[in-house]
Amino acid sequence: MYPLQRNRRLRSSEVLRKLVRETLITPNDFLVPLFVVEGTGIKEEIASMPNYFRFSLDTLVTEIKSLNALGLRSVLLFVKVEDALKDNSGTEALNPDGLMQRAIKTIKDSAPEMIVMTDVALDPYSKYGHDGIVSEGSIVNDDTNAVLAEMALSHAKAGADFVAPSDMMDGRIFEIRSLLEDEGFHNTGIMSYSAKYASAFYGPFRDALDSAPVALHNIPKDKKTYQMDSANRAEALNETLQDIEEGADIVMVKPGLCYLDIVRDIRNTVQVPVAVYQVSGEYAMLKAASEKGWLDHDQVMMEQLTAIKRAGAHIIASYFAKDAVRLIAD
Ligand code: PBG
Repeated sequence: MYPLQRNRRLRSSEVLRKLVRETLITPNDFLVPLFVVEGTGIKEEIASMPNYFRFSLDTLVTEIKSLNALGLRSVLLFVKVEDALKDNSGTEALNPDGLMQRAIKTIKDSAPEMIVMTDVALDPYSKYGHDGIVSEGSIVNDDTNAVLAEMALSHAKAGADFVAPSDMMDGRIFEIRSLLEDEGFHNTGIMSYSAKYASAFYGPFRDALDSAPVALHNIPKDKKTYQMDSANRAEALNETLQDIEEGADIVMVKPGLCYLDIVRDIRNTVQVPVAVYQVSGEYAMLKAASEKGWLDHDQVMMEQLTAIKRAGAHIIASYFAKDAVRLIAD
């Protein structure tokens, strides 16, 4: 009670504020998403993601070195697949010599200590831009799971430390875990996108991979029959608890900022690490506003990352990882 308590005492200098600060961002917090393309010498900027790039395998090695030097030691891989290799059932996703499989090997060869996580979903490989197989007006669940499990196995064989299913089919964690166990990949982990919402914030990512869902006469141009409704809270916990039962080692909430209530719910309930994906649209918004001079890039970035961690994230997948770590080091 005032005047016995004066809350401003603890805010009186930066040194004191640092002494009592609860949430700190460090390089260990980050998972760095990386976009990989075929070719050589390619480092192309993604139009809707300023200062974020697609790398060919050779320039990827350089990027990995620069991440390593910054203390960023965990990456999450996505591949941009050539149109000619896309079909309805993700055939190319299982190619042991596919771009993803080569990217995993390339990173593990050049930086074995790097934790390599891989996206597992059909959308970059799907001519319809869907995360699963399209049949008779719907995205079929169980047949998709069988392909996802084979895809995860092929990433594990190429050397992935973790597979990260981002598709939101029911039961896919169980299918993936079972196949990995059967094939002896006991130590390959699963980071499940457990509470993944059908969000319009994924727009720039779909530009990066050219993977937006296409209009089909009997399926709407969105992912709302498998990704979650942003109005819902209870089912996020339900999804997450089921994924843990099915064998997920790490769970994830996605997107980040608009869903921090969900992050806290999950953090309070589960006993496994919680990852949060600050997605492409969140990155694009701040880049655009700061380019216009409307927001202070670095301060808003740190405020957002701190809020994500304060809400309960153990791991933050973010396109700001390098920017943030450079800023902290200064
Ligand atoms: C694909 C996938 C998406 C993202 C991660 N994995 C897009 C989608 O579900 O349509 C989005 C990431 C981002 O926006 O940064 N399954």
